[in-house]
Amino acid sequence: MSLIEINNLKVHYPIRGGFWNRIVDNVKAVDGVTFNIEEGETYGLVGESGSGKSTTAKAIIGLEKATSGTVTYKGKNVIEAENRRRLNYNHDVQMIFQDSLSSLNPRKRIEDIIAEPLRNFEHLSKDAEKLRVLQLLDIVGLDPDALYKYPHQFSGGQRQRIGVARAVATHPRLIIADEPVSALDLSVQAQVLNFMKKIQREFGISYLFISHDLGVVRHMCKNIAIMNRGRIVEMGSREDIYSHPMHIYTKRLLAAIPETNVTHREEHRQNRLKIERVYQEQHQKYYDKENMAFPLTKVSLTHSVALPPDEARQYRQKMNDEGATI
Ligand SMILES: Nc1ncnc2c1ncn2[C@@H]1O[C@H](COP(=O)(O)OP(=O)(O)OP(=O)(O)O)[C@@H](O)[C@H]1O
Ligand SMILES: [Mg+2]
Repeated sequence: MSLIEINNLKVHYPIRGGFWNRIVDNVKAVDGVTFNIEEGETYGLVGESGSGKSTTAKAIIGLEKATSGTVTYKGKNVIEAENRRRLNYNHDVQMIFQDSLSSLNPRKRIEDIIAEPLRNFEHLSKDAEKLRVLQLLDIVGLDPDALYKYPHQFSGGQRQRIGVARAVATHPRLIIADEPVSALDLSVQAQVLNFMKKIQREFGISYLFISHDLGVVRHMCKNIAIMNRGRIVEMGSREDIYSHPMHIYTKRLLAAIPETNVTHREEHRQNRLKIERVYQEQHQKYYDKENMAFPLTKVSLTHSVALPPDEARQYRQKMNDEGATI
């Protein structure tokens, strides 16, 4: 059984208009998202700005109301607040927010910020609490004198590490990390990612790792879903996504990863131009009349792609002919 199962999750925001301020349409921020996260794994959710990643995260953790769908944890649907309370879900699932400055209370000292989840869920003595906070600071590589400082007195990278320390304080089973390193420069990114991996090894935590950057996700995630306009357009193992991408949107995201190897730069540039040409010519056929991606078609045991209907039919035919049972 997976640690958590997200099934056909939808979050639609009403758009109101006209004289009566009636609902005239919906923004389909998340429109039928399905994936599972296994115990101890890092699952990647990738897409451009506005594709619905943060809304998916907030709906999973219960900060945003889902329009429909289920999130199953320990056999119960935790979309319902009552189940979240009964299963101690708010303890077991923590979040690292996209924007570290606005997610840390500017008027609180770091000691109180990191101790907050401990105070909510574990009732430690003052001394035991301080010890735990100091241990957490040590794990994320910050000095003990950080205890008495305020969020604005840290750099972006240090603040993000404080966010990591707070998220792991109560030893959760899943951390939803929403663009945890996007605001940081490359060297600091590597530091924070290494901390996250180290903590995962030590505590056996699972991550839902959200990013717009396929370059970062590659080093973190075993399984990846690519999101576009509220839907998943492709999902599979790291190998499926990086070595055998099939959806034009995934190919375009991959081509956009900067090439660091100077000798391959020209080749990479040519490839990017080629993909961009194919995208301009063909991307229409990958979307339906409402400009949304098609349902996913399974192309292997691990790999699913939102193929256009004619290609999906061909695939199913091929699978039938080969007698494949996927
Ligand atoms: N409260 C809201 N009301 C109406 N529309 C919203 C609301 N929150 C988000 N949206 C819309 O939902 C879509 C998805 O937003 P979301 O923040 O989930 O994207 P994202 O993938 O996290 O983007 P980014 O990479 O920029 O963080 C966007 O089009 C956004 O404008
Ligand atoms: Mg976001």
